Amino acid sequence: MVKTIAIDGPSASGKSSVSKGVAQELGYLYSDSGSLYRGVTWQALRKGVDVQDAAAVVECMYEAEWDFFVQEGATIFSIDGDVPVQELREKDVRESVAFVAAIPEVRKFVVESLRSLAAFGSLVMEGRDIGTVVFPDSPYKFYLDADPKERAMRRYRELIAAGEDEKADEVMKSLQQRDKIDSTRKTDPLVVASGAQVIDSTSMTLEEVVRTVVNAVKEK
Ligand code: DC
Repeated sequence: MVKTIAIDGPSASGKSSVSKGVAQELGYLYSDSGSLYRGVTWQALRKGVDVQDAAAVVECMYEAEWDFFVQEGATIFSIDGDVPVQELREKDVRESVAFVAAIPEVRKFVVESLRSLAAFGSLVMEGRDIGTVVFPDSPYKFYLDADPKERAMRRYRELIAAGEDEKADEVMKSLQQRDKIDSTRKTDPLVVASGAQVIDSTSMTLEEVVRTVVNAVKEK
């Protein structure tokens, strides 16, 4: 039977590393739902669409041809034949994605696309609304959290390692702004799903968090 493991939580709470680790341990596919919101944003930006113009973003999203497939243990997608990966992490996308992810039509398209990925097999999917909206019936729901300062430091270190020229206090501010938009938006805000196990990773190692999730899944 296909299983879907939902791992939700705020930015830089460790969802990606944990989800990849759990997927590898269990032999499931890793699926990054945020990359789809980033993909819609990237497509709008490269087409010169104003991301504050919801109707234009939605039109641009539906005009594009989307294909979903599996590569190296993960679900990925192409937009009009291109597979954006590094592009999705760039600053322009990062700064606009929370606005795009707040557009109800965009959420509808992304949620339907994410559900269709279960056809590829069992998944570990990370996001903000996987346990509440995408797979609400999954018995495997986790909410990963960490102290905001720790999250900002993790994100700062990631950006510096990626060669970006960022200041720690600006990373903290931008993270706070994203947290606010993600948790207060009208459609599918970030909340703890009912039945989700909350894991505070502030003082846990990655291995400890992965083990906690894998053990909880095996015990069900
Ligand atoms: O996880 P991330 O940083 O790649 O997410 C990018 C944006 O998309 C962020 O603003 C939150 C939003 N998002 C969402 O609203 N719902 C999801 N399931 C995943 C991401």
